[in-house]
Amino acid sequence: MDRRQFLKISSALAVIGSLPTITLAASPSPGFDYELIVAPANVRIAADGDTPAWCFNGHFPAPVIRAKQHQPVRIRVVNQLDEPTTIHWHGLRIPIEMDGVPFLSQPPIMPGETFDYEFTPPDAGTFWYHPHMNSVEQLGKGLVGAFIVDEAENPGFDADVVMGLKNWHIRDDGSFTALTTPRNAFRMGTPGRLMTVNGKTAPTYYIPAGGAIRARLANIDNTLTYDINSPQTDLTIVAIDGNPIAKPRPLDHHLMGPGMRLDLGFIAPNNAGETVTLYHKNKVLMTFQTIGEDKQRRELPRLPLNPIQAPDLDTAEVIRFAFEWDASINPIEKDGKVNYRFWTINRTPWDGMSADNIPAPLATLERGKSYIFELSNLTQYHHPIHLHGHTFTVLQSNKQTIEPFHTDTVLLGQNEVARIAFVADNPGRWMYHCHVIEHLKTGLMGYIEVV
Ligand code: C2O
Ligand code: CU
Ligand code: CU
Repeated sequence: MDRRQFLKISSALAVIGSLPTITLAASPSPGFDYELIVAPANVRIAADGDTPAWCFNGHFPAPVIRAKQHQPVRIRVVNQLDEPTTIHWHGLRIPIEMDGVPFLSQPPIMPGETFDYEFTPPDAGTFWYHPHMNSVEQLGKGLVGAFIVDEAENPGFDADVVMGLKNWHIRDDGSFTALTTPRNAFRMGTPGRLMTVNGKTAPTYYIPAGGAIRARLANIDNTLTYDINSPQTDLTIVAIDGNPIAKPRPLDHHLMGPGMRLDLGFIAPNNAGETVTLYHKNKVLMTFQTIGEDKQRRELPRLPLNPIQAPDLDTAEVIRFAFEWDASINPIEKDGKVNYRFWTINRTPWDGMSADNIPAPLATLERGKSYIFELSNLTQYHHPIHLHGHTFTVLQSNKQTIEPFHTDTVLLGQNEVARIAFVADNPGRWMYHCHVIEHLKTGLMGYIEVV
């Protein structure tokens, strides 16, 4: 059996049972669990030709990193691009030194350089990783991967399927189309042309008949908000943005903005050859097909809640943030590049930063205190607003009924005002931005400081 066949068969099997994870990585240096080599690579995504992508370890999808809750993980990043990068671990509550934001938390990893990340994830769930520099291009060209933190105790699903959702900005011949245009950046962002799950168009994954299945979706796209639904099958939302919810509930339509995740649980149909299909709106995202003997599972395993400190809502200080559109701001030229500023947070557009020019924080919080952020989207577009280093509770919204839940990214619809709360328990300077990558690049970004 050659390597290709082996990998093909192994990855089909990996979906079925708890076989050891197959890592496509070069074996990591001694002392490291993973080694991520960031470099250009030609990958086959489109029907008729290769795409000159930027990848982790030469492949797309990127290696799925699997860490264990409360156990340290060591990841070496080697930058073989000809521009600087950093890697951010989205949704993980880890020390600021490991957060992967240039200048704010570490120096950029220059071409040819290596940076070692080491941290202990406090929460289990579905997370992801991506660079935090030149994001439109670095993420848009493929530097996006899933990061799974396994529960300290195995919850006991029969299959655990990880799916990264990305709409590639490519033509049928594989060549890239524009990752951004000013016209789209000041609207909803530039949509990709080819909808993929793990780099494939409408793939099929095999699952054990009658088994308890965990399907993890991660929106690793730059732009698109997916509307996840499965009209023919009863699926259960078991976790949102990495965090198990107290009362799992049926999936109807779930909006998942860039950066957000969704864990679905279901009992697979009992007979081999049956299917379960996931859709974005009415387009097929992917299909599960059952194989093997009926596992006769009746109930979904329960996921333990993550150890998130509850904010004290009675004493919490309220801070208001307005997300606005400012079309009157002219482009600025820097290093021969034209930068646009279309969006502001509290009237302030993010201008970028360098080692000796770090802007002021949008707010300074006292360590250990509870805060309520009131987030007002004063625009006609939606914005998935993300905070680094903390997991917050979404309390309420003026547009929808909220059953409070934990997240690191909250999707604000047109003119939506939402309240979130958290304990500022992680000291550092934490990015706070919209995860529509063109929005953060054109102003909708800032940071808060916890001292
Ligand atoms: Cu996915 Cu600044 O984050
Ligand atoms: Cu993040
Ligand atoms: Cu936005």
